[in-house]
Amino acid sequence: MAIDAVIPAAGIGRRMGAAVPKQYLQLAGKTVLQRTLEIFLNSPLISRVIVCLKEGDPYFDSLPVSRDPRLIRAPGGAERCDSVLAGLRCSEAEWVMVHDAARPCLTGGDLRLLAEEAISRDGGLLCAPVRDTMKRAGEDMLIQGTVDRNGLYHALTPQMFRRTELLQALEDAASRGLKVTDESSAMELAGCRPLAVAGRADNIKITSQGDLELAEFILEGHRRNGIV
Ligand code: CTP
Ligand code: MG
Repeated sequence: MAIDAVIPAAGIGRRMGAAVPKQYLQLAGKTVLQRTLEIFLNSPLISRVIVCLKEGDPYFDSLPVSRDPRLIRAPGGAERCDSVLAGLRCSEAEWVMVHDAARPCLTGGDLRLLAEEAISRDGGLLCAPVRDTMKRAGEDMLIQGTVDRNGLYHALTPQMFRRTELLQALEDAASRGLKVTDESSAMELAGCRPLAVAGRADNIKITSQGDLELAEFILEGHRRNGIV
């Protein structure tokens, strides 16, 4: 069963506010993107890795991983969903796993778990249960009420679906003018019920400054405890 990875890496990292896009910042001696791509290139479950890059990206070619023969470059788009669509069009695999370049703390264990669970169903995504009491506030920041957190999950990546089904779902969402922020949303709009697979809560997305230090701490913990 062939699985390709599609890694959207064409964002500019506006919230990080660094001199380079956040996927090119250093994390424990390697760039974030190098680390993320290595996770997939090192997995025996993954056939090819498609990385979506912003047009004229001046950084990617200096990454060691850029010379890997199993790596394919795809053009990035205006939104994440546009980048993912371009990536999917470069794949011929039966299944695809879409994973944010900005999540370098994914473990090989979670990658395998998702692959096993998603293939036995009609696709799925890594999720982590919400831990805190959830509030809804108005624009005035006054609390309107408490949201029952039972059954609430953070949608993580990777998210894994049959390539042709995901391609169709994303194209349909795009033609309706909907900018979906994850693959599951597109599949949900198409009437599917993706499986929520409980993954590690430390599969964080690097968004702003403090997240880099947190990611370093998480990776060091994985190394010390032999988590792969
Ligand atoms: N991404 C992409 N193409 C875009 C926008 C985002 O490939 N047009 C990618 C990012 O590179 C990232 C992932 O999608 O790996 C998740 O997006 P996000 O965390 O929002 O990254 P940025 O859009 O770069 O950050 P920001 O929203 O702060 O600008
Ligand atoms: Mg963004």
